[in-house]
Amino acid sequence: MTAMLQLPASAPMHGDDTAFRNGHGARLVAVASGKGGVGKTWLSITLAQSLAARGRNVLLVDGDLGLANVDIQLGLTPRHDLAAVLSGRRGLSDVIIRHATQELPAAAFDILPGRSGASSMATLEIGVLAQLLRAIRQLGSYDTVLLDLGAGIDPTMRFMAASADTLLVVSTDEPTALADAYAVLKLQARDRQARSEGGSGLPVEALADVRLVINQSSSLASGRRTYDVLARACGTFLGQTPSLAGIIRRDGRVGDAIRRQTTLLTRHPNAPAAEDVARIAANLAC
Ligand SMILES: Nc1ncnc2c1ncn2[C@@H]1O[C@H](COP(=O)(O)OP(=O)(O)OP(=O)(O)O)[C@@H](O)[C@H]1O
Ligand SMILES: [Mg+2]
Repeated sequence: MTAMLQLPASAPMHGDDTAFRNGHGARLVAVASGKGGVGKTWLSITLAQSLAARGRNVLLVDGDLGLANVDIQLGLTPRHDLAAVLSGRRGLSDVIIRHATQELPAAAFDILPGRSGASSMATLEIGVLAQLLRAIRQLGSYDTVLLDLGAGIDPTMRFMAASADTLLVVSTDEPTALADAYAVLKLQARDRQARSEGGSGLPVEALADVRLVINQSSSLASGRRTYDVLARACGTFLGQTPSLAGIIRRDGRVGDAIRRQTTLLTRHPNAPAAEDVARIAANLAC
């Protein structure tokens, strides 16, 4: 697999990305959650399009290894995917596809499709993942790489989440989603601390640039209360408080766009949830 990734000879195998965090390569923004089905893939797609509309050059990577579905939400049938890159049959740039709509031609973005139903993808070694992330950042033409992760706390997800410059942890206001988001935040505090100590050696606040998204909220005020509960738990038990990336209201037009395999911004650009994601994109972009 390494031949097609074309890694620099000096690249370390085990994932110290400190150089990239210091401004070299694209900014890596990962989207994670503890509980499944909270809206990560939809948010990743909508954020990709919102950031592209703001002039960013965005690559959306389907990082839900083994259960990819960015392509399904968008009605795409990619000829090749990440599995071909990892097996060495294709290079990264051969499998990347462009997503553009007639309605929003200026909001086009690129996609690195994943593979669904491949168990070998779900059990990738951390060293291979580190190489992959490094090669993706080095593609050169992107300023933002969005990484849509699978739910949960398995080692591959934890590693990819801890590799991100900015980590968005998504939760709804359901107690199970909140409890699982807290578990992700707790493990990230540990993983990010370990990575920073292994890298620069400088003391950092481990949850620095870990931000919460409260999705499917009944109102902005209720989402804010949900954020406050989770932030208070983090402050009390982890000694650190993730910031608020934004609140996204529950909106029936999200499901409508997904069922039609198109984006919310294309189909319902004035929907409240589209406004909410645009606000998150504006904050991320600065
Ligand atoms: N703001 C919202 N309003 C209404 N429905 C939403 C909203 N956000 C997400 N959904 C619904 O949640 C469902 C799950 O979304 P999505 O597949 O993006 O979640 P996910 O976190 O990526 O799931 P998985 O953990 O399985 O990867 C979708 O069917 C979508 O309709
Ligand atoms: Mg998903």
